[in-house]
Amino acid sequence: MEQEPRTVLETERLILRPWQDADRAPFAAIVGDPHVMRFYTGTRDRAAADAWIDKMIAGLDAGTSAFLAAERKADGELIGLIGTARIDMDLRGNPPEEIGWVLGNRYWGQGYAPEGARAHILSAWQRGLPELVAFTAAINQPSQRVMEKIGMTRDTEGDFLHPRIAENHPLRPHVLYRIANPARS
Ligand SMILES: CC(C)(COP(=O)(O)OP(=O)(O)OC[C@H]1O[C@@H](n2cnc3c(N)ncnc32)[C@H](O)[C@@H]1OP(=O)(O)O)[C@@H](O)C(=O)NCCC(=O)NCCS
Repeated sequence: MEQEPRTVLETERLILRPWQDADRAPFAAIVGDPHVMRFYTGTRDRAAADAWIDKMIAGLDAGTSAFLAAERKADGELIGLIGTARIDMDLRGNPPEEIGWVLGNRYWGQGYAPEGARAHILSAWQRGLPELVAFTAAINQPSQRVMEKIGMTRDTEGDFLHPRIAENHPLRPHVLYRIANPARS
């Protein structure tokens, strides 16, 4: 069967695909890890991790997001999520979609996030998107390194205070990165 480009992507080392029930336990372990979640407002318990997966499945079904499960080809392990989604916040220039990632700690530092993100960027250009943005807490340096590695540029005028994070919380100040579709610019 021909694969739908938005919902199954393949890279050298990864398969990016829709979520399966077998992903629920390893995903809960990833988002239950305080070190992985140190730039989020907290860890997620099993119920919250399941709800997160359910939301990603609903987004895939509705065509509003493609936050996909990232599976390592070599051993079939779920290493985390990498994907794109429509944006539900006011951001400078009203970009259509964001790109983002969360990987388990033991998979960091091997270039998996940039590798998977590049496949999503190509898919976004194939879908005709004019640009993608990424945003994260200003103090989240590893995520900003991924943005830089995949060719995104910081838009300092797009800095914002996250509307769903409490005032004076250290994670509230956010930075915005952008990349334009080369065929549309
Ligand atoms: C951000 C994240 C996806 C990076 O993925 P990755 O596959 O490790 O990416 P890379 O291998 O390209 O490494 C990117 C940067 O992460 C940092 N990094 C790598 N390994 C690390 C480790 N073991 N501990 C801490 N930081 C590490 C480095 O700054 C690295 O940049 P460098 O290659 O210039 O040294 C991963 O760190 C993660 O899941 N973090 C927690 C979730 C999160 O913050 N997501 C983003 C929310 S917006």
